[in-house]
Amino acid sequence: MAAVVVPAPLQPFPIAVPGKPWTVEPVEVLVQHGVESIPQIYRRRKEHDAAIDVESTTTFPPPNPSTKRIPVIDLANWNEAFMKDVHAQLQSACEEWGFFRIINHGIPLSLMHDMMTVAKEFMALPVEEKAAYTGTPGVLSEGYGSRYIIKEDIIRDWRDFLYLRLQPLSFRNYDSWPTKPSSFRETLEEYSAQTKKLAQKLLAILSTTLGLNPSYLVDALVEPHQKMLINYYPACPQPELTDGFHKHSDFGALTLVLQEDGVEGLEVRHKGEWVRAEPIEGSFVVNVGDQTEVLSNGRYKSIEHRVVVNRDKSRISVPVFFDAAPEARVSPAKELLQEEAGNVAKYKQLKFDEYEMSFYDHGAKGKQIVESLIITNDRND
Ligand code: OGA
Ligand code: NI
Repeated sequence: MAAVVVPAPLQPFPIAVPGKPWTVEPVEVLVQHGVESIPQIYRRRKEHDAAIDVESTTTFPPPNPSTKRIPVIDLANWNEAFMKDVHAQLQSACEEWGFFRIINHGIPLSLMHDMMTVAKEFMALPVEEKAAYTGTPGVLSEGYGSRYIIKEDIIRDWRDFLYLRLQPLSFRNYDSWPTKPSSFRETLEEYSAQTKKLAQKLLAILSTTLGLNPSYLVDALVEPHQKMLINYYPACPQPELTDGFHKHSDFGALTLVLQEDGVEGLEVRHKGEWVRAEPIEGSFVVNVGDQTEVLSNGRYKSIEHRVVVNRDKSRISVPVFFDAAPEARVSPAKELLQEEAGNVAKYKQLKFDEYEMSFYDHGAKGKQIVESLIITNDRND
C-alpha cells in the first residue's frame, strides 16, 4: 500500500508569554517555521475578488500594472492666496479618487523618519519580546498580534501589527506602549499630536468643500478618535496567493498613511483598476473612510484598497486613523438633504462602535459593510 505522506504539522508554535496566548499566531512565526505553501486560510478567494483568477495567477507582480497615479496635493500655501486651489484640488481628489497624496503638509520630515524608525525597531525585536504586548482578544483590544477576533471562515491577512489607541488622551493606555526602542513613547506622543492637527485641518477643508461649516465633520464624529497601526508585512513565499491586507475600505473618517521607503505594496481601486500608491519620501497617502462617505451622503466615497506582499522583502506602514467616538451616531448631514429636490438620505444611521464591531466580525471584504447601510428604494427609478 502506498504510504500516505502527511505534511509535518507546524505546531506547536511557541506560546507567546504565560497568560497571553496568541489569538492567531503572528505571520512572522509561520515564516520562521519556513512555510513554503501558505495555509488555505490566508489565500485570496475567487469570490473575494472575481477579477482575479487566483489559481491561474502565475506572474507576480502583474506584467502591466496601471500607470495611473493618485493625485498629489501640495499644501505649502494652504493658508494663503492658493487656498482656493487647495480646496478645489481636495474636492476633486475626494470625488474622483477617495485617495490622494499630500506634500508640504507641515509635519517635519525628521518626525516622519523617527516614527518609521521606531516602528521598524519595534518590529525587528524577537517575536518573544513583542509578544509581551499581545492584546487580549476582543474588539476593543490593542497591542501586538495578527488578528484579535477569529472566526473560522474569515480570510487572514499576511500581516502582523501593533495597534494603539492614541486620542483622546483619556483613551490612551501607556501600558500597551512598547518601551523598546527607548524613544518609542516620546516619538509617538509627538507624532500623535502633529497628525491630529493635520487631520483636523483636512477635515475642516473637506467640510467646507461639501458646503458645510468647517467644524462639521469633526463635530459629527463627536470627538475624533485617533488610532494607529504599525503594520508589518513579512516577505511571503507565495505572494500571488494572498494579500498583506485584503481589499477593504477604512471604517473611520480619514486615514493618513506613512510608508516605508523603497518597498511598494499599497494599491487603490480606481475605475476598476488597481493603482499603486508607492512610497514617496515626505508624503502621506490620505484616504476617505466609510464615516465620511455616510456623512457626505455618498459624495465622498471611501475607496477599496489592498496591500500586496513581496517574495523577498518585508514592508512596514504606519497608518493613523481618525474615527468617530464609540457613541457617535453617524448619518448623512441634514444640510445636504433637500427632500423636496429628491435629495434624500442614502445611508442609514449607525452607531460607531457597532459599525467598528461589524468590521472586525466580517474581516476585510471590500465595501460590503458600508454598502449594507445604503437605503434601497422600492421604486426602481
Ligand atoms: C490599513 C491599510 C495600508 C498599508 O491599515 O487600513 O490599508 O499600506 N494599510 O499598510
Ligand atoms: Ni486601509
